[in-house]
Amino acid sequence: MPEPVLGILALYLNEAKQLEEKSVYQKMIVEGSRIGLDVFVFTPADVNPGKELIHALVYDPKSGKWSRKWRKFPNMIYDRCRIQRSERFQQLLRFRSRYHHLTFLNRPLRNKWTIHQTFSQKSRFRQHLPETMLYQSTADLQKLLKHSSVIYVKPINGTGGRGILRIERLQSAKRRFDIQGRRQDRRIIAPRKVTLPRLESIVRQWCLGGQYLVQQGIPLRLSSGRFHDYRMLVQKNGQGIWELTGMAGRVGAANSVTSNLHGGGRAVRAEKLLKEWLGSEDKAEKAMKTAEKLGLEAAVFLEDSFGALCELALDLAIDREGRIYVLEVNPKPAREVFARSGDMATYRKSLLRPLEYALWMYKNKNTPSSAKTVEE
Ligand SMILES: Nc1ncnc2c1ncn2[C@@H]1O[C@H](COP(=O)(O)OP(=O)(O)OP(=O)(O)O)[C@@H](O)[C@H]1O
Ligand SMILES: [Mg+2]
Repeated sequence: MPEPVLGILALYLNEAKQLEEKSVYQKMIVEGSRIGLDVFVFTPADVNPGKELIHALVYDPKSGKWSRKWRKFPNMIYDRCRIQRSERFQQLLRFRSRYHHLTFLNRPLRNKWTIHQTFSQKSRFRQHLPETMLYQSTADLQKLLKHSSVIYVKPINGTGGRGILRIERLQSAKRRFDIQGRRQDRRIIAPRKVTLPRLESIVRQWCLGGQYLVQQGIPLRLSSGRFHDYRMLVQKNGQGIWELTGMAGRVGAANSVTSNLHGGGRAVRAEKLLKEWLGSEDKAEKAMKTAEKLGLEAAVFLEDSFGALCELALDLAIDREGRIYVLEVNPKPAREVFARSGDMATYRKSLLRPLEYALWMYKNKNTPSSAKTVEE
């Protein structure tokens, strides 16, 4: 019997046809071949629609070489494409809509604002959301600054800690604000102190040409002065059931208001960091249990709201009292945080699970529901 085939849908980064995660895909192909799943990689640019064939990127574990082969459409598709400002992304949107009837392990999720609004419908999740508004005018900024002495401004479609501002109302000087952040190219903006009118004008400029959120800042500064948060990965397993894969801590670079690894952040074991932060092992364990339950329920809820998912990474902020906030959810998560924190078992599990889930789905001929709209 031929093996079931999984196609990893990716996007080239540039004209040279480079792939961001090629080494990750290579590991997945090797794992796949061990468990009886034939895995190849392709991009919308490699599809020949007339012939219904794909000029796929295949990797041979025996020779250790990548090559191109013409392949039929796979039984299932694992979509790893993230937003890109390019014609390639437009081509991806056309591919997704033209081949919507194919079996996808995961469908695209929505922007940060839509996700926030969707979570807000349920009190179960509302208690874990920082106060958030879609920035429309300086009135929104003022409104949020009344309740919260720290706020974050971030693009609704941002990734990798790009275009994020942190604003802090200074206790010492009335109506003065400390402002720092990262530009779109991730360059750090050094902290500076400004008046309210200056702050309003900076934020107005910052939010030109895109949609931005203003969000209550959760206090996450460690005694070292660095900011931190947690990355939790939940995935469907080989029985089609959501399960926690792991959680890791991220400690931001010096002078960085974000903790993203791409911005110079460091990955650490969640248990250790959380114990130090909350002051006891008991409190850390309790917070981890609460986070796990939250992550699993969030995954089920988002899947119900937007269509099939096979994994979800939650960026969690946990304050000193152990209250948990969801900063963001990522449907196409990188797994490097586990390898970089030294947790290789979790890293390997994170690569294996989507493959085991694909096998389960194939055997059960279980087609996940296609995108549904949210009930108002
Ligand atoms: N409300 C907040 N309070 C405290 N810190 C925040 C807040 N929002 C964002 N941050 C910090 O900024 C980082 C980046 O924010 P966020 O995860 O929302 O966007 P992103 O990183 O650009 O997206 P991605 O995780 O896909 O790369 C967070 O990991 C966290 O360190
Ligand atoms: Mg994030």
